[in-house]
Amino acid sequence: MSIHQDPNKIIIFDTTLRDGEQALPQSLSTQQKLQIAMALDQLGVDVIETGFPISSEGDFQSVQTISKSLKHAIPCGLARCVPKDVDACGNAMKGVDHFRIHTFIATSDIHVQDKLKKSRDDIMAMATACIKQARNYTDDVEFSCEDAGRTPIDYLCRMVENAIKAGATTVNIPDTVGYTLPEEFGAIITNLYNRVPNIDKAVISVHCHNDLGMATANSLTAIRHGARQIECCMNGLGERAGNCSLEEVVMAIKLREKFLNGLYTDIVAKNIARTSTLVSKICNEPVPPHKAIVGSNAFAHSSGIHQDGVLKNRETYEILTPESVGFTGNTMHMTARSGRHMIRACLRNLGYEDDSYDLNEIYDRFLKLADRKGQVFDYDLEALLFFQKRDH
Ligand code: KIV
Ligand code: ZN
Repeated sequence: MSIHQDPNKIIIFDTTLRDGEQALPQSLSTQQKLQIAMALDQLGVDVIETGFPISSEGDFQSVQTISKSLKHAIPCGLARCVPKDVDACGNAMKGVDHFRIHTFIATSDIHVQDKLKKSRDDIMAMATACIKQARNYTDDVEFSCEDAGRTPIDYLCRMVENAIKAGATTVNIPDTVGYTLPEEFGAIITNLYNRVPNIDKAVISVHCHNDLGMATANSLTAIRHGARQIECCMNGLGERAGNCSLEEVVMAIKLREKFLNGLYTDIVAKNIARTSTLVSKICNEPVPPHKAIVGSNAFAHSSGIHQDGVLKNRETYEILTPESVGFTGNTMHMTARSGRHMIRACLRNLGYEDDSYDLNEIYDRFLKLADRKGQVFDYDLEALLFFQKRDH
């Protein structure tokens, strides 16, 4: 079945290698990009934006190499609505069975007037011409209205209608500067569905940036209003504050499937942790500890009340397990906030029988040490046991 045919499937379009790379102070080599692309392919993403072939000889080569190497994902190249960009995309992916050309032009007044210095009619004509040109290379053509989030809705509707007429099979609605709020963004998608004739002929996609921290919320709202493709990056990389984070949106869809009326993705959740680490290492971009799903603190429990709850039933404070995204387990920080149950559980983990020490006394010693040190580790607990035995 083509990725466009199942109405409940959310197509995951990964742009770590394009929008994600744009956020790095350095560019990635073809080898580095290939390694990431292979991991994304195994992760189960549907489309991989492999680069922007017109931008440099190196990028052209990366797109060429990666496009030939993918086993499952559809390779995609980016092109402005400029004929030489579209040709560069077509040429970079020549010989590949199925590939996508993604062409874009800005549609908001500020971009049209101040950046492109064109009229709305010029923009419409450039879009039509380049979509048609791209269709000469492939029948999988995506068109994006850059800065759609700030584009007047009447003009946006006309642009989308025009793009579909010209042959776009996916029409992407980017919130390029992360300006919209979820209800507002959802209303844009609803408006398009209500007003654009033949909208069902294309997949409606969204591409949300995170300037106000809304990228995941906006993307989820959009699929509740009919969008069926989400553009995202591993670890939420991307221009400025980043793009919608792949791991967040995918795990939200998986965990809240019922609320989302059965929408699903084909992502292999267990591969998320290793892909996140690989992207972080290759891009030299550490994952912030408090990053949802993949941060080192995302499955750590610190307060005594939480630790006690998790020891009795993990679901008290874990809405999903670290194992489900490929981590080996949760982390319990031993601090002065930890309770007796926690200390006993740690000692059991280290192989000490409950009757081989006096828990109350060890706990008093632990609290004194934790107040002095801040954080206590397994080897500290073993030292406390040693001193308890020596003092008796
Ligand atoms: O943010 C944006 O609008 C983009 C487009 C090229 C889709 O990255
Ligand atoms: Zn973007």
